[in-house]
Amino acid sequence: MTVVDDAALRPTALSEYVGQRALKDKLAVYLEAAKGRREALDHVLLYGPPGLGKTTLAHIIAAELGVAIRITSGPAIEKPGDLAAILTNALEDGDVLFIDEIHRLGRVAEEHLYPAMEDYKIDIVLGQGPAARTIRLDLPRFTLVGATTRPGLITGPLRSRFGIIEHLEYYRDEELAEGVARDARLLGVPLEAAAALEIGRRARGTMRIAKRLLRRVRDFAAVAGEGHIDLQRARSALDELGIDPGGLERRDRVILRTLVETFAGGPVGLDTLATALGEDRATLEEVHEPFLIQRGLLQRTARGRVATDRAYAHLGLRAPSDAGLFESGG
Ligand SMILES: Nc1ncnc2c1ncn2[C@@H]1O[C@H](COP(=O)(O)OP(=O)(O)OP(=O)(O)O)[C@@H](O)[C@H]1O
Ligand SMILES: [Mg+2]
Repeated sequence: MTVVDDAALRPTALSEYVGQRALKDKLAVYLEAAKGRREALDHVLLYGPPGLGKTTLAHIIAAELGVAIRITSGPAIEKPGDLAAILTNALEDGDVLFIDEIHRLGRVAEEHLYPAMEDYKIDIVLGQGPAARTIRLDLPRFTLVGATTRPGLITGPLRSRFGIIEHLEYYRDEELAEGVARDARLLGVPLEAAAALEIGRRARGTMRIAKRLLRRVRDFAAVAGEGHIDLQRARSALDELGIDPGGLERRDRVILRTLVETFAGGPVGLDTLATALGEDRATLEEVHEPFLIQRGLLQRTARGRVATDRAYAHLGLRAPSDAGLFESGG
């Protein structure tokens, strides 16, 4: 039996990378130009919500350039020495250094990164106390690819040292379907186009979610003894998973329901809502809310969280504003 793991499904060329048209077009030009000049590509900062393909794109950039990629992350680089070790060890001219979660880079390490990015040099302190001295080492001409979900936390000086700064967009349903269809082919699972689109519709604009849903739907089909996945199977499996046609999960609906039923639709403070849900504040704010806000189901106001009319409609309830109209108009 062949095992097809996540890494095996990850696209390795720009041409296999679904969607993100504008970004891909620009990147193709930069890659070709850098290759033509036989120079390292400018440093690249990729930002956008989780699961849209930043890490994948970093790998593709290295593959398209035909260079090696070294991978690290902001939290892994605590001391300047950590950075020096990475930059002076096994990195060659043109290689890509990928720093994930670059917004979590320590202050001091970040300052050491500036001359590395600008002049391909790094200062190393030898010894301690009064005897300490600094030597400056030359580095290969590498390309830094930084990824972050929190671009607002990147300092101005760091940001300004990237020549290419690009935002990843949420995917359209059809693009998600294309990504899902591609994985299904690689997994050897016959998947109807309508089923792929149904998975795409419920995947919150996020490629990682779409691909995860495909795997779960495949499990349901397998257990049901079905060799291929049609629309009906996709629908029933997704329903079974608690993912509704709007892409909301059970937890999302519980949040909206609590807001509507316990707090009369709000406004209610984040802490109060979190306590009522038995959820911690950060998870509510960073994991659940962005999607609900993006879909126009929840609003953040100065006085607290508010359920929109659309949230009432989604829960199959009548919004208070409707009721008001009904009463005064009746
Ligand atoms: N454009 C795309 N085409 C095909 N597959 C994609 C695309 N973007 C992402 N994927 C797949 O979706 C999954 C998530 O992508 P990836 O890990 O690159 O996201 P990310 O932006 O780095 O997320 P995070 O912010 O959580 O690190 C991977 O399995 C990847 O192969
Ligand atoms: Mg990533």
